[in-house]
Amino acid sequence: AHTVRRDADGALTVGGVGVGTLAEQHGTPAYILDEADFRERARAWRTAFGTDADVFYAGKAFLSRAVVRWLHEEGLNLDVCSGGELATALSAGMPADRIAFHGNNKSVDEIRRAIEAGVGRIVLDSFQEIVRVSHVAQSLGRRQRVQIRITVGVEAHTHEFIATAHEDQKFGIPLAGGQAAEAVRRALQLDGLELIGLHSHIGSQIFDMSGFEVAAHRVVGLLKDIRDEHGVELPEIDLGGGLGIAYTSDDDPREPHEIAKALTEIVTRECEGARLRTPRISVEPGRAIVGPTAFTLYEVGTIKRLDGLRTYVSVDGGMSDNIRTALYDAEYSVALVSRTSDAEPMLARVVGKHCESGDIVVKDAFLPSDLAPGDLIAVPATGAYCRSMASNYNHVLRPPVVAVREGESRVIVRRETEEDLLRLDVG
Ligand code: LLP
Repeated sequence: AHTVRRDADGALTVGGVGVGTLAEQHGTPAYILDEADFRERARAWRTAFGTDADVFYAGKAFLSRAVVRWLHEEGLNLDVCSGGELATALSAGMPADRIAFHGNNKSVDEIRRAIEAGVGRIVLDSFQEIVRVSHVAQSLGRRQRVQIRITVGVEAHTHEFIATAHEDQKFGIPLAGGQAAEAVRRALQLDGLELIGLHSHIGSQIFDMSGFEVAAHRVVGLLKDIRDEHGVELPEIDLGGGLGIAYTSDDDPREPHEIAKALTEIVTRECEGARLRTPRISVEPGRAIVGPTAFTLYEVGTIKRLDGLRTYVSVDGGMSDNIRTALYDAEYSVALVSRTSDAEPMLARVVGKHCESGDIVVKDAFLPSDLAPGDLIAVPATGAYCRSMASNYNHVLRPPVVAVREGESRVIVRRETEEDLLRLDVG
């Protein structure tokens, strides 16, 4: 978060609020989100792409009603991938025509709700779904705007579980073997569908633009084939999300304006080469907008020094509020934030309170050797895919999301309570 400072006594403040106050008022663990930073990043993407392109924030990274309102105010659109995300978006007043609906296995009920609500586009992910959406739209007497998600066969250099455009995986329709071309044929034939474009998402936490270059080349190749075969130039192309952020100082992310320039140039060049009108471009960043805007505030509990082996620093959360380290071997950093310390640094592993030895938040980190129970530590860059992937493992309560801005803090997602857990347990 960018409004982070150290105050006179060495404690961290964010958005003008000290971490001590935040811990007192809201408890720990808590996700602390810098609203001004979120809005600025959203606006930077919007401005970078200008009025000839659309930015759809990927709600899966983190979605709440406050976030939907901020996005709406900053002029962004929203990508949702479930009925739950759709309900959140609509209930916070996002105009339906600014919502895109994704997913590899949308239910008929979700499709019906999306069409009834009037979503701006549904991204078709399979042959069966082309038929399904066509049926539902016809039964409602509607013609739904759709894109087709194609897998372009790019190997994105990221973790296997978050790379999505190589061909052996569950998302999209492969370009290979003429399958995507066949999908386009069917979508153009069926009633109830208005095919407005093609979609490609190659993966997540990507720094190297060359994957997007290959993807754009192949998507435009298909646009050209469609023009040659059907005489139509599809007006839109979506290049997905996936732009990386800095989790540690080794990562060097690119700015939205550089990304916008690169993507626009790639698509324009490819289209000129193919003598096509340049389609309207859209992108779907999630992590790049919300990831850096929040940190997780934990209180240090037990510290265990295993001589000659390692020091384990336990915090009051863990894999239930951040599964990314366990799941993707993700790298995070951590800092003592309730005070400063001149003590020698010690190499430590920050672990959670769960009954599992893989419950690691930060694998290797230097913390001051005088660290003690009750100190507050913060793990930065937890705005994306932490609260949204949080669980109740061990019946641990999911932390709140607290927005800070101009000296004030406000809970935007409240902490779960034991009553919340028991309410679902109706046996
Ligand atoms: N568009 C589509 C179609 C997607 O599938 C995704 C992410 C995005 C946009 C947004 O990607 P972003 O800009 O946030 O990278 N849980 C994983 C990430 C899964 C991403 C899934 N799809 C993680 O924690 O790294």
